Formats: sequence, C-alpha cells, structure tokens
Amino acid sequence: MKNAIVGQSGGPTPVINASLAGVFQAAKQHGIDIVYGMNHGVMGLLKDDLVDIGQFLDSDLKIELLRRTPSSFLGSCRYKLKPYTEDDTEYKIIFENLEKHEIGYFFYIGGNDSMDTIAKLASYGAYVHSPIRFIGVPKTIDNDLAITDHCPGYGSAAKYVATVMKEIGRDAACYGTKVVTVVEVMGRNAGWLTAASALARRDDFEGTDLIALPEIPFDLDRFVDKVAELQAKKPAVLVAVSEGIKVADGRYVCELGSSSHASDAFGHKALTGTASYLCSVLQERLGGRGRPIELSVLQRCAGHLTSRTDIEEAEMVGGAAVLAAIAGKTGKTVVLRRISDNPYQVTTDLATCDELANYEKKVPLDWINEDNTDMTQAFLDYATPLIQGELAPFYVNGLPYHLGSFKE
Ligand code: F6P
Repeated sequence: MKNAIVGQSGGPTPVINASLAGVFQAAKQHGIDIVYGMNHGVMGLLKDDLVDIGQFLDSDLKIELLRRTPSSFLGSCRYKLKPYTEDDTEYKIIFENLEKHEIGYFFYIGGNDSMDTIAKLASYGAYVHSPIRFIGVPKTIDNDLAITDHCPGYGSAAKYVATVMKEIGRDAACYGTKVVTVVEVMGRNAGWLTAASALARRDDFEGTDLIALPEIPFDLDRFVDKVAELQAKKPAVLVAVSEGIKVADGRYVCELGSSSHASDAFGHKALTGTASYLCSVLQERLGGRGRPIELSVLQRCAGHLTSRTDIEEAEMVGGAAVLAAIAGKTGKTVVLRRISDNPYQVTTDLATCDELANYEKKVPLDWINEDNTDMTQAFLDYATPLIQGELAPFYVNGLPYHLGSFKE
C-alpha cells in the first residue's frame, strides 16, 4: 500500500484548499507515490471517480495558487454512510476501490459530519483487519468542532464578517435617516461566526449594535424593544443575527417567515430568510426602513479576504494528518491546541474522530454579555489572533486568479 487518497466534504471554506496543499506536500515529502483526490468526497470514491492530484499540482506555483483558491478544489458532498452493522454494501465498494488503487492512507478534510464518515470507515477497517489508516483534517467556518481550539476556515470567515460589518455600518449611516440593517450570518446551531461581528468594534468604528446567537433562545418582542431603544439614540442600527436563531419552542426564526426549508443527508435544514423576516417585523412594528443582508456563501468563499494565520494553520493540519497516518494512527483527526494568546501560539494534536462526529460545539455562555446582545472580552481575546495577517490572491488582469477545477 503505497498511495494516499484525500477528499473534501461538507460546506467549503476559503482555506480548505490550503489543507489539501498541506496533505499533498507532506505526502510527497514522505515518499508517498500517488496522491489521489476523490471527486466530490466519498460519493466519488463510491463511483471510483478519482484523480491523480499530482497531475494538477506539478509546480510550486500551482500549489501556491491552490492555497489561495477558495472552495473545495476536489468538489464536496454531504453524504452520510449508514453504519456497516446495518448495511455494509457501500463499505465493500469503498474498500475494494481503495485496495485497487493501493491506498495506504486516507485523508478527509471536513467538519463534524465528515468526522462521522472517517470514524465509520476506520471502524469498518478495523473490523476487516485493513491496514489502511483513516485520518481527519478539520475545517469549518462554523467553528463548531469539539476538542480543537478552533477550526481552520473560521479565522478567514470571521475576518470577512467583521470587515463587512464595518463597511455595511458606514454605508448604513450615510443618509442619517432611520434604518435597521440586519445581517444574517451562517452557523446553524452555533453562533461562532455571528459572534465575530463583535470584532468590528475598533477605534474607527463603533461596532455592531446588537448580536443574536443561536445559543440564546430568541425573543422577538424583546428584540423589537431593543432595536427601538437603540433607534432612540441613533438612526442607523446595525444588527448581526445567526441564520440558526430559534424561538423558545424550538422553531428556527426563518421558519416563522417561510415553512419550506429542505434538509440535507444529515437532516440539517437549509436556513435562509432570518434577516428578511426580522426586517419585515421591524418595519411593521417600528416603521422606518429595514435592510436585510444575507451574507450567504460570500462569507465562506471570500478568497480575497482571508486570514494568513488561518491559511497557515489550514496547511499545517493537512501536514500533521500525513505524519499521524505514517505514524500508524487511524480513526483520528488533527486538532489545534492553543499554547498561548499573547504571543499567539498553537500546536497540533490528535483526537478520536468519534469524539467530534455529529457534535456541535457551542459558544460558551459566559462569552456572551449579560444582556445577550454582545460578546465579552474573553471572546475577543479568543478570536482576535485568528484573523491576523493577510494573504492576497494572485491578481491577473484585475481579478483574483484561481486554480481551476480539475474537471475544466
Ligand atoms: O458548512 C457549514 C455551513 O456553512 C453552515 O453554516 C450552513 O448552514 C451550511 O453550511 C449551508 O451549506 P449548504 O447550503 O451549502 O449546504
């Protein structure tokens, strides 16, 4: 078994390809012959739809371009394997394909749902006494993976959110008239990314006025009262809400506005429309103008506004995964451990995929202020190091240049 395979899974991030570059380079440095990529994660592996990544990364320039290209170069999927004890058909196909390509090392770059996939494959591997090693590489803009201090992808998305809050805030204040801008940020059940809107407060900007995270049940009447209080003091009010805020009975706020929200293979509802719904309620009850802004995929594909710290860590976890696999580990994922805040230092470690699979780490409640409207200094101390540094894309003829997909 002399080859490796790598896949990308779940929602993309602006730095997920830096992890792919990290895996590829470390694998090559350690004498791994061919590094295969799965076309759209395990779905591609099931169809034996693989690519020899080395054919696309045949120069240092291409690797550098990959690091600076957002979204998943290999293509992604949201695909849930059934436990092999229920049905082992797909496991047999996957292991047959892995053996056919002489794969000794399997790397999967993903979030909590992807950790479920690695845990299941590693456990089937142990059951059939396979020598293949399965290692996870963490990523998610949601930052909701357990055990790791933070997830690659979060720092860049947090930098994007804080940056656009500053810019939106300036725009909103320009007419001096009454307007409530409600910015909807991704994060289904954990508010890490919405919390990053608190980073916007600096000496040149008074900050986001009101923040609502899914960790706190959302009270619509209280929200309207808070906005009214703020509007009594200033005409332009800036609000950041998580797409996943829920009212006390467990319904997502976006479901109050519309009931059609499709679910993915892991049963997660597609959340959208929270900001629009809240603006319509505010307009109805308070008058004035409401401007909803759904950041949607912009916050996870902004390759022009990444954190250098994040890119470097994303690459580092990819390399650490290869070292772990070569050292004989399996069913593990790389995690980041923070050594110190000032100076900011992190190192990599390993955790068992089972411990991270399907579990969403929430924002600690004591990092939210007493009023449930803002973040505390502890959150700012945690998140500020993650957004440091910049790595610009390569610009060609005025636009960022990306490494095209291998299908092009
Ligand atoms: O990967 C996580 C995430 O970005 C969530 O915050 C969001 O709810 C979800 O992906 C949406 O992804 P998609 O609509 O692409 O499935």
